[in-house]
Amino acid sequence: MYKQLVRPMMFLLDPETAHGLAHKALPLAKSIKSISQKWHDQLPASLRTRIGKSEIANPVGLAAGFDKNGKLTEVLSCLGFGYAEIGSITGKPSAGNPRPRLFRLPSDQAIINYMGLNGEGAAAVSSRLGQTHFSLPVAVNIAKTNHPDIVGASAVDDIVFSFSCIKDLPLLYVAINVSCPNTHETKLAEVGFVKEILAETKRLNDKQLPIFLKLSPDSDKELLEEIVAASREFAVAGFVCGNTTTDRSGLKTPGERLSAIGPGGLSGPPLKSKALNLCKQVYALKDKEQQIIACGGITSGADAFEFIASGANAVEIYTSLIYEGPFLPFRICRELAQILENRSMILTEAIGSGIQLKTAASGPL
Ligand SMILES: Cc1cc2nc3c(=O)[nH]c(=O)nc-3n(C[C@H](O)[C@H](O)[C@H](O)COP(=O)(O)O)c2cc1C
Repeated sequence: MYKQLVRPMMFLLDPETAHGLAHKALPLAKSIKSISQKWHDQLPASLRTRIGKSEIANPVGLAAGFDKNGKLTEVLSCLGFGYAEIGSITGKPSAGNPRPRLFRLPSDQAIINYMGLNGEGAAAVSSRLGQTHFSLPVAVNIAKTNHPDIVGASAVDDIVFSFSCIKDLPLLYVAINVSCPNTHETKLAEVGFVKEILAETKRLNDKQLPIFLKLSPDSDKELLEEIVAASREFAVAGFVCGNTTTDRSGLKTPGERLSAIGPGGLSGPPLKSKALNLCKQVYALKDKEQQIIACGGITSGADAFEFIASGANAVEIYTSLIYEGPFLPFRICRELAQILENRSMILTEAIGSGIQLKTAASGPL
């Protein structure tokens, strides 16, 4: 029904208007709360996994950017999610980049976004989260306010301010986004900067919230090595692998259309191989107890399994929700549970196992 009816209508609208409409409509999903609760209650134990210190019932999370201001935490479990990453929140409220800044690439099932970290700001979002009953485990993603004057020490202060706003909330983890391609800075991931942020957040982190770093699939090996080494110094719990890419290679969308769109982060299936590569590189570099949350082009249970077998404890989705519909987490969980059952495995045994699925053409998954 989503693909036949809802999506064609939504795709007639400008993408950001459609996103706003989805935000207004999603609370209606509460009407299926009892059905979704039954589904959650009957989830196979094989899907359980760990993020930070917590066990979660299913590994499919909502990626950052969809619920930037933490307005949907009461309803997201009704869509089948195991957890949600709210944000990015920023130290100051920000309008983001001028519109249009969100573009669909239907022939690639992809999105290019040049949002530029729009949001209500850390104080407003943390106050909202503090007053909300979460329907599922909630994490928060922090990024630096996208303003050319906030650089150097004030950039560190900006991120640390956001952390101080949320540090007492009952969060699954906090992700620090050092990889947004849509801001004034292109070198945010400089290791010295990351170290300063980690030192300050560690000092303030009296509730010992697990800290994750959200990495870029465009980072080179050297930078990844340095960041992972720095992460050890500050007891970072893990990595979100990863953010959108600025790479446009291999797309079916014509070059003229891409030029007309201009800069921005690409997400969806064309990102998958880069995200998978990032995941494998980080898995090889990280400490055993550090965890990976995979993100980038995940659309099916088979995709989720591929990332888990490459080292991820959990997966996150955004773009596939737009193309496949809001209840996609139910399908990904069902398919993933079937894949695990076929192998008589539980998810935690599959993490980093390197098992490769046969393709649909070569036999059952
Ligand atoms: C419209 C849009 C906004 C996003 N905003 C953020 C953000 O604020 N912070 C962040 O860390 N990632 C953001 N992302 C990146 C996603 O969290 C995710 O890393 C990326 O889209 C890859 O996953 P996907 O292929 O499942 O969409 C955004 C993505 C999109 C499409």
